[in-house]
Amino acid sequence: MNAPTGPVNLTEHSGSSGENRLRSQDESDGADPLARAPRHVAIIMDGNGRWAEQRGMPRLAGHREGVNAIPKVVDALAQRGVQFLTIYAFSTENWSRPTPEVEGIIQLLHETLQRETDRFNRKNVRVVHIGNADRLSPEIRDAVERIQDETSGNTGLVLNVAFDYGGRQEILAAVKALIREGVSPERVTEEVFGSHHFTAHSPDPDLIIRTGGELRISNFLLWQSAYSEYFHTPVLWPDLDEAELDRALASYGNRQRRFGNVIPDTGS
Ligand code: IPE
Ligand code: IPE
Ligand code: MG
Repeated sequence: MNAPTGPVNLTEHSGSSGENRLRSQDESDGADPLARAPRHVAIIMDGNGRWAEQRGMPRLAGHREGVNAIPKVVDALAQRGVQFLTIYAFSTENWSRPTPEVEGIIQLLHETLQRETDRFNRKNVRVVHIGNADRLSPEIRDAVERIQDETSGNTGLVLNVAFDYGGRQEILAAVKALIREGVSPERVTEEVFGSHHFTAHSPDPDLIIRTGGELRISNFLLWQSAYSEYFHTPVLWPDLDEAELDRALASYGNRQRRFGNVIPDTGS
């Protein structure tokens, strides 16, 4: 096995499953950091409101621009070998925003799902909603179901759309499900617990990107991110371009993921 390349940042950690662990070691020879694509990227798409405010526009204009930015990021990451992309579109706590903003965001979701389904099919993207649906109107719930059904046969990138998603609520829901199922304590392993999360079909995120400059997790993928790498950028979500995405991927590619282990002996 070759030497890990690039700087080691002790404040930034890495992935959790056995599968991720193997993958990381296999890929630790990267001469070109962009050649080591993370398998699963998750993005906290923050900064829509500020993007609009900076232009003297209503916040919803920022959300519209933000939603419009999603397809190009999906395409760019798929082209770079990413297999799973999870986007944080609306948190459990975002319901506390003013009603017109909440309703506007939900409407944008609706429009986008309808508009993008054909495109996702052309691009072989499978869309999966992660989060709760019970506070959504029947119309929106149907639209969410429809896009999931219509893209369910696609075998390319899996796009997890986190909408009405909260990590703590997800953990509580998993605990409640296990209790309801009468699972005995000794059977509650990390795998069983993880399989009761919305993301059971996805590996843990390798890289979590947050746009908009905040240095916090805001209730995103709390269980799944135990060993994720983080990349923060001041770029506001609607402005995120391929160059900044490549910076994030290059940063990831230069890191050494150790999963609690020691630096491998390179023999050199
Ligand atoms: C992120 O942008 C989108 C959602 C949370 C729905 P914000 O609306 O949080 O934008 P800022 O952080 O106010 O700029
Ligand atoms: C996180 O952004 C949620 C989404 C991007 C959907 P917020 O803007 O809601 O996060 P806080 O409130 O700044 O932590
Ligand atoms: Mg925000």
